[in-house]
Amino acid sequence: MKVLPRKGTGAVKFDGLKNKFGISNDNVIPLWIADMDIAIAREIVDAITNFLQANIVGYVDIDITEAVCLWHQSKGEALEREWITSLSSVLMGIRTAITTFTQIDDKIMLLSPVYSPFYSLISQCGRTIHEIPLVPTNSGFAIDIEKLNPDAKMLLLCNPNNPTGSVWPETDLQSLVSFCVKHNILVIADEVHSDFIFNQRSFKSVLALGEHAQNITIVLNSCAKSFNLAAIPGAAYAIIPNSGLRGAFHQRISSVHGEAGALSCVALNAAYRHGEPWLAKVKAWLRENRAMVANCFRSSPKGLQVHIGDATYFAWLDFTALDKTHYQIETALLAAGVALTSGKEYGAPCCFRMNLATSPSLLEAASKRITRMAQKI
Ligand SMILES: Cc1ncc(COP(=O)(O)O)c(C=O)c1O
Repeated sequence: MKVLPRKGTGAVKFDGLKNKFGISNDNVIPLWIADMDIAIAREIVDAITNFLQANIVGYVDIDITEAVCLWHQSKGEALEREWITSLSSVLMGIRTAITTFTQIDDKIMLLSPVYSPFYSLISQCGRTIHEIPLVPTNSGFAIDIEKLNPDAKMLLLCNPNNPTGSVWPETDLQSLVSFCVKHNILVIADEVHSDFIFNQRSFKSVLALGEHAQNITIVLNSCAKSFNLAAIPGAAYAIIPNSGLRGAFHQRISSVHGEAGALSCVALNAAYRHGEPWLAKVKAWLRENRAMVANCFRSSPKGLQVHIGDATYFAWLDFTALDKTHYQIETALLAAGVALTSGKEYGAPCCFRMNLATSPSLLEAASKRITRMAQKI
């Protein structure tokens, strides 16, 4: 894959270093925010160009339900078109689910560490976060089913998990769903990273567990992460088999014009109908990057544990054993010339997320800098 020069283009990952980290050092390698430094699929560019060249950008209704069903069908998931509601963002979907189906002060469970907006959304909606810390294992992370709270009203699940890249096994998903059915808890499953599965453990959507799971679940997904479309907000959608939940959710979404915009629907149709060959190439490239970085860290110093999960284009770096504060580690990383996403935002101090969707030479240089920093600090 050709890695594009993005500095000076307004790219947040590069040009936003000052805002985010307070530094403007040209030598810092930015491996933080989750986008890829590559061109998008030609088919998407063509579809958007054709749409704009028609010169009519009034209210239009562009169906995405057929393309979404075909995409999921190609991965063995059978959906019905009427289950799908388009969304201007996944976070809009999560927020709507929280405000529609829970009350102020209700407990919402999440498995931590997890994507940082999950925490802020729950708090901003006046609900209570109930964290279930993931348990580190030899091969990654496990869910402690015993820690689930029967008083909670909602489980906010991220599968595959951002930032650890964990793919939750079917047996764990079954246990989570059984618990939630028993205690009348709604499951909101963010499956945004499900196109990036790399190891043997195959991804299973909660919806694939059967009718009992479908009845209590809202799945949120998007083509923006898989097809690198962060600058086109809104190629997102909710999948809600239960008609009662769907009706209430849809009503809220349409009351704020929260559906996906036309441009993003055009992008989604192009991506899901014609983008598979592009995605296959991207995944092959990411697979090599993941292996290369795993190799760079194979003999990493004692104080640094590196985990590259079964999914996502992230490595999860745990510096806890260095016995330093989060601030000390972050400062040392920046001084060494690497900007990573702080795990503190994900509920995991002393941990950092490294974005692997860039050039192998930058990844190699960054891995060396990180290793050296962990040896010296
Ligand atoms: C797990 C997860 N959910 C949601 C999002 C954001 O999606 P959106 O921009 O559609 O709200 C991201 C973006 O990185 C993500 O990693």
